[in-house]
Amino acid sequence: MTDRYAVIGNPIKHSKSPLIHAAFAAQTKQKLIYERLEAPLDSFIERAAEFLAMGGSGCNVTVPFKEEAFRFANILTERAELAGAVNTLWLDDEGVVGDNTDGAGLVRDLQRHLKLVGLRILLLGAGGAARGVLGPLLAERPAQLVIANRSPDKAIALATQFIQLGPITACSLAELPNQPFDLIINATSASLAGEALPLPTSICQTDGLAYDMMYGKAETPFLQQAKAAGVVRRLDGLGMLVEQAAEAFFLWRGIRPETETVLVKLRAGL
Ligand code: ATR
Repeated sequence: MTDRYAVIGNPIKHSKSPLIHAAFAAQTKQKLIYERLEAPLDSFIERAAEFLAMGGSGCNVTVPFKEEAFRFANILTERAELAGAVNTLWLDDEGVVGDNTDGAGLVRDLQRHLKLVGLRILLLGAGGAARGVLGPLLAERPAQLVIANRSPDKAIALATQFIQLGPITACSLAELPNQPFDLIINATSASLAGEALPLPTSICQTDGLAYDMMYGKAETPFLQQAKAAGVVRRLDGLGMLVEQAAEAFFLWRGIRPETETVLVKLRAGL
């Protein structure tokens, strides 16, 4: 029987995961089916349990169910524990395993462009998206990681939680230090709403890198801001999407697919 996988979310119609996994499967000659499943907002666990009980080998989980997937898994990987969220599930002999490949996906995408060791990194936002990438970012041993959030309490709570893993500090967006960063990552959902952030240009450096975890056909408001401040290297989150999928594919199939051509194809289709 052909192995079955799925991405579960709500809404799910526009998910690119089936396209990405179909490309990985064709490239690595793996026989599998990967579909979209929309779960009602109040029944993620029933939907995921049903999919696995009916022969599904594993699934990805997207908005708004990553925290519920964390509670659903019987066994959590260390990075899922740290993230407090799960985006990849599969069955093994002991039950449902939950992992989180978002942070690894971000780091891999960034590593195509720069080495993170010794860098001064600014992470904007302190919601689920920020928490999901903190562990893998700190594991790359940056010199400094500042989390800045509109509501400083949430940034402080995250910094307190991760302090043992690296040089992390927190502040509000209004209190950003007057210093340039090598890498600024936008993990807020402001771009989704088409909103720009109140950022001073002093945090940008022309040879730095600006990264928005959101993506779109046009540059996101955050990347437009970075461009106006003179930042030449700007990337959106499409690469992270492909890399987190590649990491999930590797967990499920034991083969690491090539991602560059898939990213180019996906970009052309935006
Ligand atoms: P996600 O899972 O995408 O991280 P979330 O947990 O709701 O979603 O978090 C959204 C993040 O975007 C938060 O850090 C939020 O800031 P607050 O904690 O102050 O709410 C941030 N955010 C959203 N819209 C924003 C805006 N217009 N300006 C600044 N920050 C914004």
